[in-house]
Formats: sequence, C-alpha cells, structure tokens
Amino acid sequence: MGGTRRVAVFLVVCIFTQSRGRGQSLEPEPLGRRPQAVETKKALQKMETRFLLLPDGHGQGCEIGPHRPGSLQECGFNSSRPLVLIIHGWSVDGVLESWVHRLVAALRTQPVNVGLADWLALAHHHYAVAVRNARLVGQEVAATLRWLEESVHLSPSSVHLIGYSLGAHVAGFAGSYVGGRHKIGRITGLDAAGPLFEGMSPRERLSLDDAAFVDAIHTFTREHMGLSVGIKQPIAHYDFYPNGGRFQPGCHFLELYKHLAQHGLNAIPQTIKCAHERAVHLFIDSLLHEDAQSTGYQCSGMGSFSQGLCLDCRKGRCNSLGYHARKPLRAKSKSLFLLTRAQAPFRVYHYQFKIQFINQTEKPEEPTFTLSLLGTKEDMQQVPVTLGKGITSNQTYSFLVTLELDVGELVLVKLRWERGAVWTSVWNTVQAMVPWGGDTRSSSSGLSLALGTIRVKAGETQQRMTFCSENKDDLLHPAQEKTFVRCEVNSKTLKRKIS
Ligand SMILES: *[C@@H]1O[C@H](CO)[C@@H](O)[C@H](O)[C@H]1NC(C)=O
Ligand SMILES: *[C@@H]1O[C@H](CO)[C@@H](O)[C@H](O)[C@H]1NC(C)=O
Ligand SMILES: *[C@@H]1O[C@H](CO)[C@@H](O)[C@H](O)[C@H]1NC(C)=O
Repeated sequence: MGGTRRVAVFLVVCIFTQSRGRGQSLEPEPLGRRPQAVETKKALQKMETRFLLLPDGHGQGCEIGPHRPGSLQECGFNSSRPLVLIIHGWSVDGVLESWVHRLVAALRTQPVNVGLADWLALAHHHYAVAVRNARLVGQEVAATLRWLEESVHLSPSSVHLIGYSLGAHVAGFAGSYVGGRHKIGRITGLDAAGPLFEGMSPRERLSLDDAAFVDAIHTFTREHMGLSVGIKQPIAHYDFYPNGGRFQPGCHFLELYKHLAQHGLNAIPQTIKCAHERAVHLFIDSLLHEDAQSTGYQCSGMGSFSQGLCLDCRKGRCNSLGYHARKPLRAKSKSLFLLTRAQAPFRVYHYQFKIQFINQTEKPEEPTFTLSLLGTKEDMQQVPVTLGKGITSNQTYSFLVTLELDVGELVLVKLRWERGAVWTSVWNTVQAMVPWGGDTRSSSSGLSLALGTIRVKAGETQQRMTFCSENKDDLLHPAQEKTFVRCEVNSKTLKRKIS
C-alpha cells in the first residue's frame, strides 16, 4: 500500500500546488468586504464568463447576456420556467469535462431552462489563481441573474446553481452578491473544493447563507498531507457524505491500476478524479433514476452510521440525495450519511439489525456471521455481518446491513455462524470425504450461543420488525444456521404474501 499512497500524495500535491514552482503564491488575495452593487454593474459591462443556454438541439450552447440583445428569445429561454445553471470547476486543460454534457442531458428531463457558466478562460490557470478568479465569476453570475430579473422578471428564487468543485464556491459567491429582496432559490455544491477553503469563514466559501436552500455532496475528503480535494466541513443545510465522504467504492487503487494498465499514464487525472467527480454522477443518477432515489440519514459520523444507529427520518432527519432533495425546515446544518453502490443506480437499502446475545458456553474468538434474508419480493443469501468486537453475554449488538435489491417486506431471517474461511473450507472437504461425520461438528466444537430476538429497522420504509427464533430453546453452534420468523401475529399473512 505504501506505493499507492505515494502515488496518491504525489497526484494531490501536483493537482493543487502547481503554482509553487512558477513563483506564484499559494495564498489567496485577502478576501475583503463584499463589493457594492456598483461593482457588479461594472462587471456586467466586461464579462469574462460566457453564459450559455443549452436547449435541445443546441449542441454547443447558445450565448446569452446583456451585450446580446434578443439573445434570450433567440436561445429559446422560457421565462416561466426556472433556471438551472451549471458552474464547472478549476480546469487543468481548458476544456469542458465530459460530465458537463451528461449533467445537461439529465437536467433536460426536467421542465427547466438549462444553462452553463463557462469560465474556462479564468479557470484554466494555476489553482490559486483560479481560486482568486472564482470571486469575480461569482460577481458575474450575480450580475447576469440581476439582468434576467430586470429583463424577463426571472426571480433569483427560481434559480438553482449547481457548482462542481471550485464552481461550488463560485455559486456561493454569486449567492452572496445577489443581495436584493430574494435570495437565490437553491445552490448545490458537488464535492466543493477543499484547498484554500477548508476552515475559512462562511463569507469566504460556499455556506448556507448563500441561498434559500443549500445542499452539498461530499465524496473525496480523504486527506493527504493535510489537504483534501473536497471540502470536509459542513457547508450547507444538508451535507451528504456518501460512504462517509472520504472515498468512494469503485474508485480504489486496485481499480486505478487496472485503469492505468488499460489507458497508460494519461489515465491518471481521470482516475484521481473518480471519487471527486462521483458527487456529479450521484446527482445525475437522482435525475435519471427517479424510482431509485438514495436517502441520506442524519448522523454524527460513520462510526455510528455503520452500527445502524442513524436510520431515523423524523423531524427532517433524512433526505433524498440529489435533485429531489427536500428543502430544509430550519436554517441549520445537517450532516447526512448513506452507503452507495459502485455504479449507477447507486441506491442501496439500509437496515439496522439488532441481535441480542443472551449467553455463551465459552468465549468465541471473533465470530463471523452471515444473514440470509427472505422478503416479499426477493431474497438475499449470505450477507456478511461484522460485529467489530467479540461477543459478550447478555448484550445487544447493532449493525448496518445494506442490500442492493429491493427485497420488499422482510419475512424471514436466517443467521449463520461462519467458521473462519480456512476452517470452513477444510471442514467442507472433510465432510465431502466422510459424509456421515457431519453431525458431530457442533457437539465436538463445544461452542454455542443463546440468542434472543432480532430487531430490524428498514431505513427506506422506516418499518420496524421483530424476529423470533423458530425453535425457542435452540442454541446456535458454529457452522450452523438458525431461522428467525416475524414475532408479530400477522406473520402468517406475510408468509401467504410470498407463497
Ligand atoms: C414554457 O414553460 C411553460 C411552463 O413549463 C410551458 O407551459 C410552456 O409550454 C413553455 N413554452 C414554450 C414555448 O416551450
Ligand atoms: C444459556 O441460555 C439458555 C437459554 O436461556 C439456557 O438454557 C442455558 O442453560 C444457558 N447457558 C448458560 C451456560 O448459562
Ligand atoms: C441481562 O441484562 C439485564 C438488563 O441489563 C439484567 O436485568 C439481567 O439480569 C442480565 N442477565 C444476565 C444473565 O446477566
């Protein structure tokens, strides 16, 4: 792992500190007070950002702006529809990244005007310079929104800015420059940039003051030498941390190596972006798979979340990730956690399982279990369970189980005590050779566990269920499976549902 670590550190350092060697300061310019509206007027006259509308059939986009009278009509702007404006981030090569086109296509499924703030000319610099320019671009976005309000009465409250990486902070600056009676309706920050923003005051980065509704998706906050590509701290009303936010499934270095083998060294920027860009693809997924919305749950951190302790939806404690996220009830920041798959559709189903261990004959060493789940729609076999610590008598263990399939309502749970992988394969071999020896294993091992009920809470449906052992006084032995059925009286009707 040492080698891969060094590669990662090298890449992050390359990406974010390119300016060093060329004699440019890493420090951003002192970020002073908000300039007055007069200055936004000035910005309006000499814009460096191009504002493009992307209606169907306009591959390249159609430029709008006060300097192009009649452009709104020409570009098919529908002023009775809201505007969703995409803001890209820092640019290494001065070319729009391919996710932009995918996001545009996904947004076109909605009754909105889709636009792009093209600030490549200001973003294609060393990172620290692009950071400095971000404030100016924010000012130009604000000026353009004001122009839209004056010319076609499009209220800023009907505007949704979606900013990726550095673009998220551009959106934040735009929000604070808009001023006036109405705030911008919504800002979505897709893995907002971390370097030079982490730990800054709310005025110097995207924050929840910048729009009526600010949501953020954090996907690459793993630190290397004190730097993380995406910002770690909460910056929104709803901050989503998929898979804990540090790193994403499917972006692992093993896969990176595979990618490198296929595409050579050119693949490096593409692969390092995997987790960073995942925020965009999660957002796109929420538009393309309306029936598979991912839910995030408020939690203090990944530790509690992976114990299944946070699957509560009361009082706005959970929300849909992406386009269909619900507006906050209060102007307070909530950090939401969820797990996802490695590719679209990303949604998984979250369950909390609580198993009560009553007693044991002797202390088993790190027992491992698998669950088989039978639902009204599907069943799942051999879902591995990690309790994280040895079993102590008379204690209830809580853990998170995620399923990629919608199994429907759970009807039956089977808990299997796995021997270690090596032991199991040896045992299976022995059993195959001496089939009649099979029955001696439990008695010979001497280990057994007495279990109480299994309590389950489904995050996505908020349903709570209790499962009781089919045979009351049965003990669980290693390499054995125990069946639990719904304790509730209506379990018979459930059984009928699946047969
Ligand atoms: C403009 O949007 C409104 C509301 O979505 C819609 O009813 C109308 O047909 C649109 N007009 C055009 C010309 O597309
Ligand atoms: C464990 O609990 C079971 C069921 O309550 C009981 O029958 C058994 O005697 C207990 N064993 C020990 C060692 O306490
Ligand atoms: C198990 O815990 C409960 C509550 O914590 C306690 O009342 C009970 O006596 C305990 N039983 C044993 C066998 O330790």
